[in-house]
Amino acid sequence: MQTLQTQLLQVEGIRKSFTKRSSSTRKEERIEVLGGVSFQLKSGSFTSIIGPSGCGKTTLLRIIDGLIPADSGEVMFNGEPVTSPPSKMGFVFQGFGLLPWRTVQKNVEFGLELRGVEERERADIAHKFIQIVGLSGFENHYVHEISGGMQQRVGLARALTIDPDVLLMDEPFASVDMQTREILQRQLLQIVKGAVQKTTLFVTHNIDEAIYLSDEIVLLSTRPGLVREVIEVNLPGERWKYDPRTDPEYARLRHYCWSFLEKEIMDKGVFGSDIA
Ligand SMILES: Nc1ncnc2c1ncn2[C@@H]1O[C@H](COP(=O)(O)OP(=O)(O)O)[C@@H](O)[C@H]1O
Ligand SMILES: [Mg+2]
Repeated sequence: MQTLQTQLLQVEGIRKSFTKRSSSTRKEERIEVLGGVSFQLKSGSFTSIIGPSGCGKTTLLRIIDGLIPADSGEVMFNGEPVTSPPSKMGFVFQGFGLLPWRTVQKNVEFGLELRGVEERERADIAHKFIQIVGLSGFENHYVHEISGGMQQRVGLARALTIDPDVLLMDEPFASVDMQTREILQRQLLQIVKGAVQKTTLFVTHNIDEAIYLSDEIVLLSTRPGLVREVIEVNLPGERWKYDPRTDPEYARLRHYCWSFLEKEIMDKGVFGSDIA
């Protein structure tokens, strides 16, 4: 007999508009950002959302995390509708979101502190995750004393301390250089597919990053954002141990995703008419 399994995360028909004052006419205008987004997140999977800039990716993550309400639609997390930030969701931001007046150790402890975990236990848990992200020895450094790549690992360690059921990441590697970015991608996989095993929802506009990291890729259209397609990435597991970028399947997926994004952007007319 088939048992009914509760989905970890279900996003159903999410719509969102914002009202903005036009800079030219000074009139208020309504911008539809999300036009009815639906998808499901499989437990244990690494899923990326890719879509053109401004298509509503950050807005969607904020709605999933319960930070802002949708106009309509629903987010179900562990079988419950999300109405405020759930305690078992971890969030890693693009701009790191670290507190500059705190040390690495105290930044990593921050989420636990908010949850009222006592000092001794906080320090032990933080110690464990500082080790996992490879920052042992930097506990007492302040944020400005470490590199961007290290700061992002502090953000990851902080998100992991709360033992989240799902990790939400919004373009976390966008502000670091290309080499650091590739190293961080490999380390992220080692952690969420190896050391700690976390279901991850990752937003990016970088196709290579999405293919390298993901089991599934959700393709979002230009604004108003809609799910155009969900693609399975059939590359072998443990990708941090080899370079999947040389696999013919990688090249096929890259071409497919790029054609999609190019069409979305060109159809919107941002570059005028095609030259050819
Ligand atoms: N609080 C807000 N008020 C008004 N407009 C907003 C607000 N948040 C986002 N937007 C607009 O919604 C659109 C989508 O933004 P965002 O979700 O940040 O896109 P993405 O992350 O895909 O680049 C943009 O045009 C942005 O200006
Ligand atoms: Mg964004």
